[in-house]
Amino acid sequence: MLEQLDQIEATALASLEEVQDEDALQGWRVAHLGRSAPLMQTFDRLGSLSKVERPAIGRRANQVKKTLEAALAARSEELRQAALRRALQMESLDVTLPGRPVTHGRCHPSTLMMRDLARIFNEMGFQVYHSREVETDEFNFQLLNFPPNHPAREMQDTYYVESDEDRGDNPVVLRTHTSPGQIRAMREFATMNPDNPQPVRIILPGMCYRYEQVTARSELQFNQIEGLAIGEQITFGDLKGTLNDFARRLFGQDVRTRFRAHYFPFTEPSAEMDIECFVCGGVGCPVCKRSGWLEILGCGMVHPVVLRNGGYDPQRYTGFAFGMGPERIGMLRYRIEDIRYFWANDLRFLEQF
Ligand code: PHE
Repeated sequence: MLEQLDQIEATALASLEEVQDEDALQGWRVAHLGRSAPLMQTFDRLGSLSKVERPAIGRRANQVKKTLEAALAARSEELRQAALRRALQMESLDVTLPGRPVTHGRCHPSTLMMRDLARIFNEMGFQVYHSREVETDEFNFQLLNFPPNHPAREMQDTYYVESDEDRGDNPVVLRTHTSPGQIRAMREFATMNPDNPQPVRIILPGMCYRYEQVTARSELQFNQIEGLAIGEQITFGDLKGTLNDFARRLFGQDVRTRFRAHYFPFTEPSAEMDIECFVCGGVGCPVCKRSGWLEILGCGMVHPVVLRNGGYDPQRYTGFAFGMGPERIGMLRYRIEDIRYFWANDLRFLEQF
């Protein structure tokens, strides 16, 4: 009987070695410690043994039971640890692997140009004034001294918001330039103190629209930055000084400029400003069309009619205004040969800035 128990113990321990997972472990428990396991049957038979045999067999049977239970617990723990090790290995995060980089956004080249220009004028004391993109004929033209049917309107083919039939004598338009903002700003500054209108020194940035044939040089939408200075005793000398200083800050200390007489209804006298071609140094090349000069803006002294329309008495106040296209200037600066790239949304173009 004692040898039988030794045998039961040895067999059970040996088969426990083979157990590799939780299911097999449960099977083993039923087979070796369950109701009908050989060990348990030994307990059932204790009653039928003689008083002499019973204590020794009983003690031994209990011993075997404890041994098997302890071995079961140990094996169960071993399997749990092994499973954990496997999981850690398979699901581990390799922190030495480089991450996937997030692509950086960037500013549109027009935005970059606008910010550059605004920064320069801010340093020179001009504040940014935002005016509206949808205007009336009155503000876009009439108050700027373009009478109805004046030929100067031909310079700015216009998008009308209403249909031909619904258009009255003050139709709603998409602004063709930032100049209507001059009137809006002047009226605001003038009414702050009606007896003594405030001096004005502002820039007006924003999108403009013209119903134009789209070509390499002209788009139907484009930005402008307008400048306006109103005060007492402002002269054409102030205009030249301001714009020359601006050109030096943008293109470098040595840049040469020239003013050419021009015509705008809302300034008198009017001019266009050129800078010496920085590609050829003024000798003549394809970029400056062999002229040696590059046109960068229109300007002039604010017309007395415009001053009056803005609420400033032309007897007492004078002022100058100028307007430039940031995309045009960007084209010169970055040698972009086609203005259509700005709104074509081609990443190969946009990612160069
Ligand atoms: N508004 C003019 C244009 O779009 C530019 C300009 C602005 C000229 C201010 C003179 C003074 O062509």
